[in-house]
Amino acid sequence: MTFMNLTKDQIDPSFSKDQDFLDTLSQISDLWLKNRLPRHDLSTFRPENRDSLLTEFELNRLKQVYKDVIVCQSARVLEVTVPFPLRLKIEESLLKYFPEGVSAFTGSMWYRPGGYMTWHTNSNGTGHRMYMTYATTPNMSFFRYEDVDSGQIQTSYDVVGWQLRIFSIGRLKKFWHCVSSDTERLSLGVQIGPFGH
Ligand SMILES: [Fe+2]
Repeated sequence: MTFMNLTKDQIDPSFSKDQDFLDTLSQISDLWLKNRLPRHDLSTFRPENRDSLLTEFELNRLKQVYKDVIVCQSARVLEVTVPFPLRLKIEESLLKYFPEGVSAFTGSMWYRPGGYMTWHTNSNGTGHRMYMTYATTPNMSFFRYEDVDSGQIQTSYDVVGWQLRIFSIGRLKKFWHCVSSDTERLSLGVQIGPFGH
């Protein structure tokens, strides 16, 4: 399991080898691959070219105009419903490693080829957020973000199967990120405490 820590915080990666956790993820991806997860379309449509919405140039424009974009302004994505018992199992597995608390899923997204989510920060929450992502083709989908310390734009391409990315969100240090996919890509988010302010 590939684990990418996109924060500067020390995070013990041993949870990414937890057998219960890995088994539950496999059950979820099996259901998804068999098209058994209920879904609904969250897409919004814009005339612009998708790739131009995911550039550093566009990020700088958004910062100038809006200062912050808490939720994305444009997306082409389906939201899926992961069965509650499986969500609970994921949360229980993670709680063993993150005793400060693990929230309910923050978003379960299915990106199809042509899918995307534009730059945003999720800065209405604080703490760590983890995305568990399953892609069916290598290097055809990515998570792009601005490194909080260097200000550099980084593009983290997906491998086949499951991978984990953790980042921190907060009001003061905004974590700008966006997503693109030219393959089938499932992405499940959880928030890891502290909660509130
Ligand atoms: Fe996000």
